[in-house]
Amino acid sequence: MVSGEANGTSYQVRRGQSADGPATVLAIGTANPPNVFEQNSYPDFYFNVTNNTHKDELKAKFQRMCNRSGIRKRYLSFTEETLKANPSMGIYWEPSLDVRQDILAVEVPKLAKQASLNAIKEWGQPISNITHLVFCTTGPVSPGADAALMQMLGLNPSVKRVLLYMQGCFAGGTVLRHAKDLAENNKGARVLVVCSESTAVTFRGPHENHLDNLVGQALFADGAAALIVGSDPIPNVEKAWFEISLAESYLIPDSSPAIAGHLKEVGLEFHLTRDVSPVISKNILKILQDAFDGTGISDWNDVFIIAHPGGPAILDVIEEKLKLVPEKLQASRHVLSEFGNMSSATVHFILDHMRKSSVEKGCATTGEGYQLGILLGLGPGMTVESIVLKSVPIASLLSS
Ligand SMILES: CC(C)(COP(=O)(O)OP(=O)(O)OC[C@H]1O[C@@H](n2cnc3c(N)ncnc32)[C@H](O)[C@@H]1OP(=O)(O)O)[C@@H](O)C(=O)NCCC(=O)NCCS
Repeated sequence: MVSGEANGTSYQVRRGQSADGPATVLAIGTANPPNVFEQNSYPDFYFNVTNNTHKDELKAKFQRMCNRSGIRKRYLSFTEETLKANPSMGIYWEPSLDVRQDILAVEVPKLAKQASLNAIKEWGQPISNITHLVFCTTGPVSPGADAALMQMLGLNPSVKRVLLYMQGCFAGGTVLRHAKDLAENNKGARVLVVCSESTAVTFRGPHENHLDNLVGQALFADGAAALIVGSDPIPNVEKAWFEISLAESYLIPDSSPAIAGHLKEVGLEFHLTRDVSPVISKNILKILQDAFDGTGISDWNDVFIIAHPGGPAILDVIEEKLKLVPEKLQASRHVLSEFGNMSSATVHFILDHMRKSSVEKGCATTGEGYQLGILLGLGPGMTVESIVLKSVPIASLLSS
């Protein structure tokens, strides 16, 4: 009904269109490609496959970066065979966008499908109940990976979709911000939220004059996460694992040079300067104070925290600035260690790990026993997406 028509005022019509309760996370699924790379042997693989074994000093530096990365293993969609078949991807500055795009067009929707099917299986509802799709990825293809996923899953063609391209690591928060609005403003909406990331867009060989390229080569990884978000869970049918209480976004003034990415013929060329951690350190306290304004919380050990692990240095400054006990960022460090930095998808892996480990450890709530928590998406801009979450008592989940 168009607002203002027929029986009722625009206000009543609007209220009828909106959900009653807050958006909730009803299921989480994740997926990684099959090829696993151990971090301690990755420098050998990387310098070998890019034909740079003669660059001993650079390799030793890369080994130090890998050693300090906090990563034990990562998953990548390409293999030595893929790279040998597409040598332009491994040469430092070689036109290679066509090759990369061909890989992304296949790999991004493929990973997205696996993660989505895992989320849908956990949710347990018919796929036709999905009303919206919010899709986020780094590599651009048109029609987008969202359209490809719609077809692969057999989603209703009238599903309303939003596609976020080239946002970077903070967008794991952005997708939840959009999903919250969609779920709360459209009664009965069930939003499939997907972040699918592939390093086929950023992988390249080393160069002495671009050392922060090496930082990314040591940290980035492939993975996809999917969530079902909706308000007013059907009692005894759907399980809400977290409520999305508040979604804020902050573009840190004058910080844009800290992280940059430009899509060129050589793929996505990026810069990760040493300013990233100091910028976060300078701003993180105010961001948390604003997010929890009115709650009375000032000791950040009293909330659960999911922080995008762009690298261990970022987690270290958050820990220091917020005066956190070491366990507070354990879930974030665990996912960094076992999967690497999967850009936007990483925070959802952490959310998934946190709820599962909370159940395993016998915590009172899905948020490590705490009632309130925050998910921090961090990335280019520099942008901080702050998603305040309310956990759910585990006893209520197990009894339903
Ligand atoms: C890269 C990282 C893992 C290295 O760990 P670290 O504890 O800082 O260790 P070190 O200071 O010993 O650095 C290891 C080497 O990397 C170099 N390095 C670190 N950060 C660098 C950067 N941004 N650009 C270029 N080189 C860098 C150091 O100079 C050092 O080289 P050296 O051993 O020859 O002296 C860590 O700095 C990190 O997490 N950085 C944040 C990465 C980031 O910005 N991520 C955002 C993506 S969203």
